[in-house]
Amino acid sequence: MNTQRLTLLAVMIGMAAGCANEPRSRDIANPNVSGETLALQVCSNCHGATGNSKSPNFPNLAGQQEVYVVAQLSGFKAHSRQDPAGFEYMWGISHNLTDKQIQELAAHFAAEKPERQRIEGKPERIAAGKTIFTGGIPDKGIPPCASCHGPEGNGNATFPRIAGQHADYLVKQLTVFQRTNDRPEGSVMKTVAHELTHENIENVAAYLQAVPNQ
Ligand code: HEC
Ligand code: HEC
Repeated sequence: MNTQRLTLLAVMIGMAAGCANEPRSRDIANPNVSGETLALQVCSNCHGATGNSKSPNFPNLAGQQEVYVVAQLSGFKAHSRQDPAGFEYMWGISHNLTDKQIQELAAHFAAEKPERQRIEGKPERIAAGKTIFTGGIPDKGIPPCASCHGPEGNGNATFPRIAGQHADYLVKQLTVFQRTNDRPEGSVMKTVAHELTHENIENVAAYLQAVPNQ
């Protein structure tokens, strides 16, 4: 059993225990609990109290685009986003969230400030990744990532912020887009990622993670 599963278990036990003087605020099936409370008491276990996660297994949510977060939570809830980690970790959590809670959660994390994080990639990967991010790979018809995700990778509305995201998570998602249909709303990314080699993916992920952290 790895640490993520243990954390999940801890969350579940915490929810089940709900003792008398601790109101049912950990109850993710209670529509009266605010998004703010859920963020601090449930989501924080994996994504960090401020949406800056310590473990690269859990994506950072701080400063993420509000519209994008609403779309992803709705996608997990509707089971349209079905990549294995999303299925394993996020389907249950999002199952009973109301539209209002989803909106509040998204607003909460969008307003959090991304923290500086340890650089995860090697310098040579970071340099090679920058070329892909800013110029794409013209020979293969791959457009610059910056053209949709913004010059600093901060995203805009449905285009997620990818700057400062954990490199392992970025690699995982690019592979999901490239090889599967597990994120159908991301079909544009399937086309973008189609011709990327594993090396390209590792490089661009190393660059993105490092951009705001240097
Ligand atoms: C037990 C751990 C855990 C908890 C608790 C948890 N998450 Fe997640 N979450 C994950 C993992 C793992 C992923 C990555 C899934 C993937 O790779 O598809 C994720 C992905 C996400 C994403 C998609 C991020 C992106 O960049 O596309 C959002 C949004 C999200 N979680 C929001 C929440 C919210 C809001 C809560 C609280 C209501 C929450 N999570 C609670 C583990 C957790
Ligand atoms: C034509 C516009 C476009 C271009 C160009 C583009 N992206 Fe995206 N990207 C998107 C959209 C839209 C999404 C959100 C998909 C979804 O909602 O599932 C996305 C999602 C992603 C995600 C998932 C983020 C997360 O938090 O789960 C990653 C990683 C990503 N893009 C990386 C890249 C990289 C690297 C490049 C350049 C090689 C790139 N993108 C070029 C539009 C684009």
